[in-house]
Amino acid sequence: MINADSAPVRAVCPGSFDPITRGHLDIIERAAAVFSEVIVAVGRNTTKNYMFEADERLVLIAESVAQMANVRVALIEGLLVDFCAAHNANVIVKGVRFGSDFDYELQMAQLNRQLSGIETVLLPAGREFGTISSSMLREVAYNGADISPFVTDAVNRAVLAKLNR
Ligand code: PNS
Repeated sequence: MINADSAPVRAVCPGSFDPITRGHLDIIERAAAVFSEVIVAVGRNTTKNYMFEADERLVLIAESVAQMANVRVALIEGLLVDFCAAHNANVIVKGVRFGSDFDYELQMAQLNRQLSGIETVLLPAGREFGTISSSMLREVAYNGADISPFVTDAVNRAVLAKLNR
């Protein structure tokens, strides 16, 4: 989509998405406007404890992106670079909210490029939901506050169900 005459560019938007937020959806939607196709790749960061299992996160994302015609969702088994090769993806897209995100993403982008040659494109987070994170929303919901402005209705219901509310 970068240029209607150029070869299709398939992008991968990887993340934990525990759960997917309106900030993630903004990045996915903007990536889908730039690239021919976007695969949202649900991964595991071994340093994190998750609220939702990977297949639960995948279902919530699939519901959230159902209206985006050139977006699909898949699970990362193993390394992200191997996922990209298996899906013939040309580029990784990630959102950055602030400086510490950039430091983290720079490390991952350089490592992934060294591993396979794949390039990473960083998109600045949108203003409205730019600084929210899944971990903060989990914490807020755990303490009984309303996270509905920051997630879809389905995600809000799923979080409340996890917390037996
Ligand atoms: O939302 P997150 O936690 O920043 O997502 C991190 C994720 C899942 C994209 C990353 O941990 C990942 O790519 N995991 C797959 C395994 C892998 O390739 N690790 C090396 C990445 S440098």
